[in-house]
Amino acid sequence: MNAMSTVSPVHEATGVFDRIRALESEYLLQNYARYPLVLHRGKGCYAYDPSGKRYLYFITGIGVNALGHAHPRLVKVIREQAGVLLHSSNLYYHEYQGPLAERLAKASGLARTFFCNSGAESMEGAMKMIRAHGHKIHPEKYEIVALQNSFHGRTLGALSITGQEKYRKDFEPLLAGARFVPPNDLVALEQIVNERTAGIVIEWIQGEGGIFPMSTEYVRKARELADRYDALLVFDEIQCGVGRVGKYFAYQLSDPVVLPDIMVAAKPLACGIPLGIIVANERAAKSIGLGQHGSTFGGGPLACRVALEFMDILDGLLPHIEQAGAYFRLKLEDLKKRFSFIREIRGRGLMIGVDLSIPGKQIVLDAMEQGLLINCTHDTVLRFLPPYIVTEREIDRAVSILKRVFRAAGKRGEAS
Ligand SMILES: Cc1ncc(COP(=O)(O)O)c(C=O)c1O
Repeated sequence: MNAMSTVSPVHEATGVFDRIRALESEYLLQNYARYPLVLHRGKGCYAYDPSGKRYLYFITGIGVNALGHAHPRLVKVIREQAGVLLHSSNLYYHEYQGPLAERLAKASGLARTFFCNSGAESMEGAMKMIRAHGHKIHPEKYEIVALQNSFHGRTLGALSITGQEKYRKDFEPLLAGARFVPPNDLVALEQIVNERTAGIVIEWIQGEGGIFPMSTEYVRKARELADRYDALLVFDEIQCGVGRVGKYFAYQLSDPVVLPDIMVAAKPLACGIPLGIIVANERAAKSIGLGQHGSTFGGGPLACRVALEFMDILDGLLPHIEQAGAYFRLKLEDLKKRFSFIREIRGRGLMIGVDLSIPGKQIVLDAMEQGLLINCTHDTVLRFLPPYIVTEREIDRAVSILKRVFRAAGKRGEAS
């Protein structure tokens, strides 16, 4: 990333950035292309660098800090729980897994939960359930149908069904049996699903793929085919789920709701404490028996208690997420009228992509310099995942920063 020139002067003067960067370049695996910014603390929808400069945090650590930073109710339960019981392992019961699983069953319309620690890990577990389900029927029933342009995580299993060559190519051969089809193509889906299909995996809204929603007809067809061939339908709600679109889960946007057999989610669930989930109906849950899966850290008392608190808060926030998202998209549509390089605004609730006809990288860096943190997926799609508590005032502020940044991009001639 050629971005070092955009470090804020105050930030640079403190030397903090240079020290941190030097240590990381000497001692970390060099796998991340970080933005030239050190985040030191946060409050509400703002994050602050060590010099005190504030940034509107409209990326929420890629969809994680759903309640912004330092939400008083979360701070309170984290403090309390830290002094009581941080970890117990899954050798024993603790007070929070059961109640959280009950909440998730009610919110999702599914039945049983397995707790883990990340998105990829939840997808990995769901893939084991698909495999185990298929094996029980026939040894040759192990294929997983997944979508082109999808993203399901960085572990070898999740990569095997990630439909983007750039993530997969250096790690092949991956797991056998992955079959890819174009999203929203009902005919292609019908042609590929057969008796060997053990599972169909769909992101309801593709996140890393550039914020592309699935059509209700498509998901309905996937449900129908999964039923016809006794395969498990899995929705990856890791980025679009747990309130992000103004529903508990994005699949609840369809009318009537198309239920999966398994849903996986993670990112915002414990608002920054690592927690992933696999939620399954009874049929899918039967695929995994005693001793067939597990996790040392998964579903610890801290993460589960925080998630319970978050779910309580989320109940009252869902309408706000929908309204704030609609307001934000309206403002972005106004910008689209003014800047010809904005091709399309996509997304639902507070999961929004602004598709450009120019590269988004410099725009992201310029926005950062102006105090707005967003990122760019698929080279040209600006991605907005603001905190669920975002106000119209903060959205207006973000839009006015964007206006300035877009104007500068236009002047640079990038619009031509
Ligand atoms: C849709 C989707 N699935 C899976 C993952 C992987 O999640 P994690 O990074 O927590 O492993 C992500 C992460 O961005 C994602 O967006």
